[in-house]
Amino acid sequence: MEKDIIILGIESSCDDTSAAVIKNGWLLSNVTSSQDVHRTYGGVVPELASRAHQQNIVPTVDTALKRAGVKPEQLTAIAFTRGPGLLGSLLVGVSFAKGLSVSLGIPLIDVNHLQGHIMAHFIDEEGKDNRHPDFPFLCLLVSGGNSQIVKVNSYRDMEILGQTIDDAAGETIDKCSKFMGLGYPGGPIIDKLARKGNPNVFAFNKPNVPGLNYSFSGLKTSLLYFLRDRMKENPNFIEENKEDLAASFEKTVVDVLMKKLAMAVKQTGINQVAVAGGVSANTKLREAFIERRNKNGWDVFIPPFSYTTDNAAMIAIAGYFKCMDKDFCSLDKPAYSRVTI
Ligand code: KG4
Repeated sequence: MEKDIIILGIESSCDDTSAAVIKNGWLLSNVTSSQDVHRTYGGVVPELASRAHQQNIVPTVDTALKRAGVKPEQLTAIAFTRGPGLLGSLLVGVSFAKGLSVSLGIPLIDVNHLQGHIMAHFIDEEGKDNRHPDFPFLCLLVSGGNSQIVKVNSYRDMEILGQTIDDAAGETIDKCSKFMGLGYPGGPIIDKLARKGNPNVFAFNKPNVPGLNYSFSGLKTSLLYFLRDRMKENPNFIEENKEDLAASFEKTVVDVLMKKLAMAVKQTGINQVAVAGGVSANTKLREAFIERRNKNGWDVFIPPFSYTTDNAAMIAIAGYFKCMDKDFCSLDKPAYSRVTI
């Protein structure tokens, strides 16, 4: 009888401490401790994030193992996010994973956080439809720090076809929410307000860079100047128009993202298209994918909400595939803060 492959996944790249257990590709548990401490500062404070990770890591891993009904001695390997992310935050997860692997005498598997987001599409979960894309497929990877169109040739071979040359989509949404005084993180707030607004009331600059790359800094500046001018005429302008502002701004971001993605579909002839990363929780973006499915025949893959934000289930599944290939990592591999796919 084949031996079970049981992977513990650990994610600590930003402000969520997460641990998950996957057995033979099936998710047994996924536990995330979020950090509320950053809310007052309007953004993640790296030093506070690493301290919170230190407090959260032991109980989070412990809970994930207990919920999975798995004892540490039963684990086959430990997969962990090695980067990219905040270095101090990563160090907590990386050091913990290394220490546990030494004490249990089991291998380590390093996972690229961005590849993890894409691999979330391969998690099998009881009671879910568990439909996975076939290789090759395209993935729009949109998070706080990245906006990329990725051609996924296999779980280990991913090619960036286009990416932002300045701000990421999530970062732009967060910054614009801040300009409007709406709060942090901007994504869910803008999304909620936009549901009550009209997306066709205001028009903002749609940046257009050549090829499949994105640029969002012009949109940010356009919104900033627009608000400044309108506020001169009416100091209550934002308050009186926040729903329409959110809806119009959100529509601009989604239109920009989808335009380049449609170009990538055309250029590659690949019509299996997935979306991943924090911004994939956005209602309008998810609707745009469905619209493309209905109108253009795209075979679309939209992750469950629980896998849009940072989570260890995606790290564990990426680790599971690497484990099958015996693609392990040595103890001397350090965390890295920057690097793309
Ligand atoms: O992938 P993620 O959780 O973190 C990393 O960057 O790794 O992405 C966070 C980003 C933030 O910019 C947040 O505002 C955005 O995802 N986000 C959303 C929504 N939920 C989260 N953006 C738009 N609509 C949402 N519903």
